[in-house]
Amino acid sequence: MKFHYKSSYGYQTQRGGALAGLFVLLFPVLLPSLFSPLSHASPSMFSGSACDAFWSFELVYGSYKMFHEWNAPKPRHLPLLKSALQLQKDPNAPKPRHLPLFKSALQREYVSQSLSSGATGKQSDLWVPLADQGWRPCVESAKAPSALPQKSQGYIQIFLDGGLNQQRMGICDAVAVAKILNATLVIPHLEVNPVWQDSSSFMDIFDVDHFINVLKDDISIVKELPDEYFWSTREYYATAIRATRIKTAPVHASANWYLENVLPVLQSYGIAAISPFSHRLTFDNLPMDIQRLRCKANFQALIFVPHIRELGDALVSCLRYPSSKNRVLGNGHLMDYIDAYNKQEPWKFVVLHLRFDKDMAAHSACDFGGGKAEKLALAKYRQMIWQGRVLNSQFTDEELRSQGRCPLTPEEIGLLLAALGFDNSTRLYLASHKVYGGEARISALRRLFPLMEDKKSLASSEERARIKGKASLLAALDYYVSMHSDIFISASPGNMHNALVGHRTYENSKTIRPNMALLGPLFLNKSMSWSDFQQAVVEGHENRQGQIRLRKIKQSIYTYPAPDCMCHV
Ligand SMILES: *[C@@H]1O[C@H](CO)[C@@H](O)[C@H](O)[C@H]1NC(C)=O
Ligand SMILES: *[C@@H]1O[C@H](CO)[C@@H](O)[C@H](O)[C@H]1NC(C)=O
Ligand SMILES: *[C@@H]1O[C@H](CO)[C@@H](O)[C@H](O)[C@H]1NC(C)=O
Repeated sequence: MKFHYKSSYGYQTQRGGALAGLFVLLFPVLLPSLFSPLSHASPSMFSGSACDAFWSFELVYGSYKMFHEWNAPKPRHLPLLKSALQLQKDPNAPKPRHLPLFKSALQREYVSQSLSSGATGKQSDLWVPLADQGWRPCVESAKAPSALPQKSQGYIQIFLDGGLNQQRMGICDAVAVAKILNATLVIPHLEVNPVWQDSSSFMDIFDVDHFINVLKDDISIVKELPDEYFWSTREYYATAIRATRIKTAPVHASANWYLENVLPVLQSYGIAAISPFSHRLTFDNLPMDIQRLRCKANFQALIFVPHIRELGDALVSCLRYPSSKNRVLGNGHLMDYIDAYNKQEPWKFVVLHLRFDKDMAAHSACDFGGGKAEKLALAKYRQMIWQGRVLNSQFTDEELRSQGRCPLTPEEIGLLLAALGFDNSTRLYLASHKVYGGEARISALRRLFPLMEDKKSLASSEERARIKGKASLLAALDYYVSMHSDIFISASPGNMHNALVGHRTYENSKTIRPNMALLGPLFLNKSMSWSDFQQAVVEGHENRQGQIRLRKIKQSIYTYPAPDCMCHV
């Protein structure tokens, strides 16, 4: 990403810290023997997970009950009262920009009032999985004999920029380029991104043996260069112009470009190092077997390392079985526990991917309701990073909004979800890095969806220790949980959004794509009634829930896997 060479994330989410503190105090007292037997007996089910969700669920729900007791107002007015109270609490917190809509969303008559029936989603077809659309991942007809070339043309070394999902696509393209050239692929090197600052290697993130094994009949892959090429390192290429470095690959280069420009280097030196490589292989006019190989790399060969998958499974269990804890507390016997666990009907959950950081807020040049101070801070940031040269800043906020060019705020995404029919019994997992404005900005969303969790609230501190501060591993965990959700919705376009839209299409899972062009004007209309808003939102999203969209020319095979990776049956 071009504009990401510097960032300053000055805001912290406070809730995680506060709750974590509470857990530390509560755990040893209340759960003296619960976790050790579980982690021995059933590592795959819970991985000894602390499932802090159980606590935060209770804390959230418990605090509501307490609120009732202290104040005893009629429940109908409680939400309004609460918003009024909270709005006054922090004069610097961003105000809900859509107060009338927001109040209606809090107030609306719930189709289902009870937590349990809401959780199993009996009230509507919102939670019904996507119908079979007749598209399946293409399977290779009968096991073809190994398609490995007789002789390798040499080694392909790749250096990948970007965050996790951009690197993921680069890896799949590297597999295709190695195939085009009959070369041996060296496990790609992941560069440290200046924004995300994560030095995790391919092997720290992806299961490298699985990767090599799945692709073993298609290309040769080695974990490291043989000794004779020891000199071909990142430092070697960083310090001078070198004959074995390919620096000039055009964006979306053709297969022929590689045959004409890289093959000769391979043939002369036995090695070619390609950097930069992101987005350097075209999506069009490639042989079908190359396209299929890219799909295979992305959807089958790339899986995360076991500890990420285990932690992901633990988080998914916490989301699906939030109240198991109550039954365990009484006795703590493993069999009773598993029994209760098996009988309980799993809850459904939505993953909301929310990227709302300062970079994005500043770059959009939109006004996010944080008042003068925020406006100034964003303008200053634009000046510092892009010397003020931001295309959007020549438009007014209203112009940008009417064109749907402003990222949705947490409040707006909350209103969208509420209008679609999700209510306060919906379990929401927030897949997010840091949110600009912190908890103050998220609070509007949390008021609409009090059962909101994230990796911080769900995982124990020991579980988090291995991934702490590692942006790629944190993103991998969110990716994994997102893949296992009933519904995925992304509030921010970008690589993570595209990768998950594509992967979930491949698995025919429900994915809601916000209709920005519709929502922009709706949010501008300050006299919009809740029922009109809701009707427009529902109608405007009927065909945006995961229906197959065929890839058009120039579009990414990883975002639109049909018809290249998927076959109509
Ligand atoms: C790669 O191998 C295939 C089959 O072994 C062959 O047809 C093709 O010409 C080779 N291409 C290159 C660039 O070596
Ligand atoms: C959900 O909303 C209903 C209706 O406004 C309210 O009675 C209930 O207490 C809310 N539940 C939670 C957990 O906030
Ligand atoms: C705003 O929405 C209302 C319906 O709630 C509609 O009657 C009105 O025309 C809209 N205003 C604009 C400017 O679109």
